[in-house]
Amino acid sequence: MKPLKQQAIEAILNQALGNPKQKDAEAWAATNIALCKYWGKRNDELNLPLTDSLSVMLPKHGVNCRIHLDTEKTSIIVNDQPLDLKSTAASHLIDYVDLFLTQPWQLNLDFNIPVAAGFASSAACYASIIKALNKLFDWQLSSQQLSALARLGSGSASRSIEPGFSVWQKGKDELGTDSFAYALKEKWEDLRIGLCVLSSESKPTSSRAGMRRTRDTSILYRCWEQQVEHDMPLLQSAIQHKNFELLGKTAEHNAMSMHATMESAWPPLVYSLPETRQLQHQIWHWRQNGKSIYFTQDAGPNLKLLFLERDQDWLQQQLPDMIIIEPFTED
Ligand code: PMV
Repeated sequence: MKPLKQQAIEAILNQALGNPKQKDAEAWAATNIALCKYWGKRNDELNLPLTDSLSVMLPKHGVNCRIHLDTEKTSIIVNDQPLDLKSTAASHLIDYVDLFLTQPWQLNLDFNIPVAAGFASSAACYASIIKALNKLFDWQLSSQQLSALARLGSGSASRSIEPGFSVWQKGKDELGTDSFAYALKEKWEDLRIGLCVLSSESKPTSSRAGMRRTRDTSILYRCWEQQVEHDMPLLQSAIQHKNFELLGKTAEHNAMSMHATMESAWPPLVYSLPETRQLQHQIWHWRQNGKSIYFTQDAGPNLKLLFLERDQDWLQQQLPDMIIIEPFTED
């Protein structure tokens, strides 16, 4: 019997792996920010999630990946620096790429976002790798197949294939052939996302380890599925009707609930720093004064603010270092 991941890959590809058709391939993938989070898996090996999730892509922020085959030994270069092949990040990358390639390879990854600081760098990373592999093998896969294969590297990578809003459906199949993301047709031109980098240090606990600890030790986590079932239809309706208050409120509530499950794990998993709390209080204060500004937070201390174009100039004056993203009007 083949290993589970190999079985899953063949089931998703719906064909044999085949051989690479060329020696080099290059692809870009952008990162995404979840408005309804993925937190917890029903299958750890295949990154099959317990719940659906929903995200929006940040089109200009991500990773360019180059794969080169004509090499004697495997190496990984991240932003022009060789990555220590014994590091955890490298071993995950090697495990993933080796699922597809039997010969040595060189991987060049150029990020324009902080790595491992809760900016979903792994999402863009694994999505760019599978897009490059698709070219290398000339598989000509659909977005859904690319999404399901990217998921095997990092769950959130499944939502980094298509631009705009993406829904990652959890699926039911044991090999995960139906656990992929699809794009929503709606666009939201005046929606803005503000990246507030409060710390760009690597997070102390990876999402992978954090999810496991939360699932295994937090009693609050037993309600997480219910929270997602509550939030997903609200977000989809907010997007459909361009109801920004509903979008912001639901996304912030969802993020706060996810962090509540983490903080009630043992040992407690606290990604927030004092600076995170301070900015959250600031946002709540602005809201009390009538401003429509919300936030979301991933497995890191940084906040991503949600607001509309009408508040952009005012907010940029309050937070001059904030990076503003236009998810639907950037290339
Ligand atoms: O894909 P991973 O294993 O990096 O997990 C991502 C988890 C969160 O960013 C916290 C939530 C999400 O849905 O992106």
